[in-house]
Amino acid sequence: MTSHKTAPETMEETDVIDLLLAQHAMIRDLFDEVEEAPADRRGEAFTRLVRLLAVHETAEEEIVHPFARRKIDGGDAVVDDRLAEENQAKQLLTRMDSAGPEAQDFMANLRKLRTDVEEHARSEERYEFIQLRAHTSEAERRAMAAGVKAAEAMAPTHPHAGTESATKNLLVGTPIAMMDRVRDVIRQATGKSH
Ligand SMILES: [Fe+2]
Ligand SMILES: [Fe+2]
Repeated sequence: MTSHKTAPETMEETDVIDLLLAQHAMIRDLFDEVEEAPADRRGEAFTRLVRLLAVHETAEEEIVHPFARRKIDGGDAVVDDRLAEENQAKQLLTRMDSAGPEAQDFMANLRKLRTDVEEHARSEERYEFIQLRAHTSEAERRAMAAGVKAAEAMAPTHPHAGTESATKNLLVGTPIAMMDRVRDVIRQATGKSH
């Protein structure tokens, strides 16, 4: 996946599953960046990872999992398992965020987080997305993509000078605070106020 296709302003995918698969690839790339960053840049790279995870997991929780629950075989069990994985990763993310990138166990926790998140993404692809694609129409997947795009626009993975300050204003604070903000934006974009 080339970056021009996943940049929000030029994004061509209109299928929600293609968008989420592209985000899985971006998440893997950002884990690489955090791992490879020199110590003084690690915090900045980690913040971008936290933003993307907040965008991605919140979009799935708001848009895709509820749909999968209704549409796919054994949907409740599949989605409950995915939510449990997401919650576990969120707890570790929150602990890492409050301890900060200087913490002695940061790199060990990052490896654990990466293992958990990548395993979770593979389970989604295998047990949820394949069935979802089979059980939804193109129009339904396009409709779901709109909310995911609105969320993704909040977290460019390689912000240019000028967009970075806007992004900072949108997604700041703890991972949970970022997720709350993303949830608000998705609900506005999809016309849900609950
Ligand atoms: Fe997820
Ligand atoms: Fe995912």
